[in-house]
Amino acid sequence: MSKVRVAVVGCGSVSHSYLPQLKKSASVDVVAVCDNQIERAKKHADEFGVNAYFDDIDKMLGEVKIDLMVNLTSMNMHAPFNKKALEKGINVWCEKPIATNLSDAYELLDIAKQKGVGMWGAPCTLLSPQYKQMSKIISSGQIGKACTAHGLYGWEGPSWGQWFYKKGGGALFDLGIYNITTLTGLLGPVQSVVAMAEAAIPERIVDGELTKVEADDNTAIIMDHGNGVMSVVQTGFVYKHQMDDWTIQVIGTEGTLAMEGYDWDPKGVRVFTSESGKWDTIAQDQGDYHWAGGATYVAECMAAGKQPIFYGEHALHALEIMVATLKAAETGRRVKIESTFPWAEHVAGITK
Ligand SMILES: NC(=O)c1ccc[n+]([C@@H]2O[C@H](COP(=O)([O-])OP(=O)(O)OC[C@H]3O[C@@H](n4cnc5c(N)ncnc54)[C@H](O)[C@@H]3O)[C@@H](O)[C@H]2O)c1
Repeated sequence: MSKVRVAVVGCGSVSHSYLPQLKKSASVDVVAVCDNQIERAKKHADEFGVNAYFDDIDKMLGEVKIDLMVNLTSMNMHAPFNKKALEKGINVWCEKPIATNLSDAYELLDIAKQKGVGMWGAPCTLLSPQYKQMSKIISSGQIGKACTAHGLYGWEGPSWGQWFYKKGGGALFDLGIYNITTLTGLLGPVQSVVAMAEAAIPERIVDGELTKVEADDNTAIIMDHGNGVMSVVQTGFVYKHQMDDWTIQVIGTEGTLAMEGYDWDPKGVRVFTSESGKWDTIAQDQGDYHWAGGATYVAECMAAGKQPIFYGEHALHALEIMVATLKAAETGRRVKIESTFPWAEHVAGITK
């Protein structure tokens, strides 16, 4: 494939970060933008030199030849729009999560398989040089058996968008997905979870109105990766001030890795081994990595005929872990995870 024809649906906040990434790639031709608020689509078409703009996804999919659709709409439109594109044999990159329930996510992956196209989802934290360095060190055995890990990510929470605090919103789906994706990438698929998910701040001012918090704003998960390996993720909208000298830590029998900064914006990796007896900081350069660069990366893989290092099954697995977390928190029970993803292939893709 020479240039990959990319269409973006959803011209809101994150599209301002995605479009510059797409536009700077020599492998990408942005052929259309779409938003039901047509003035947003038109503004992007003007600003980014895109020939076609639409206020209706069906019109766009019917009229323009597209290789990759980038879905940046609000969460409830993810599954239905992904399905429309996949059914037309179009590859899809979708902002997190690929669907809001598991049956939709399974259906999307089934359609993608039938049509022989990709269904990939954010976050793309697995592309950062810092993540890759940690993955390589773990698989090299340098820190021995990686037995335990921690991920910690939150902030004080948005003061806009009431949906963040209502059922179907919550910090877990908005933020927890980053650490869950990173830690399953580093340690492998999860077999079961136990969790607590609470609303610690019962009322907030959101969009200028006093709002009752109905979704989780303070969540803790213990994930069982099998073989005695476990990791803990804590996330929430109750982290007004958080130290970010490390937010991901992996502890092995012979050493420890700590990611500086956040996994979506990492600043470096600190390594301690029994052999060195000291902390060394490596991988401080982000290179080309950008948190909104996942769609550009898959387009470049398509153009080069290469298999991306991440998989739709991983996005589904992360979704199942989040659904299971809420169930575990509600019932007080350990919840089994049925899905998995090609972890060995993911690690091999990084190390080769
Ligand atoms: N805002 C962030 O910092 C951020 C960061 C990472 C990921 N995300 C994720 O990115 C996605 C988009 O977030 P956002 O902050 O850009 O939201 P947004 O509300 O700013 O943008 C969504 C856009 O989708 C459009 N849209 C909604 N329904 C549509 C329809 N039926 N047809 C066409 N267009 C439609 C809206 O008009 C809007 O312009 C979400 O899944 C979010 O979780 C957001």
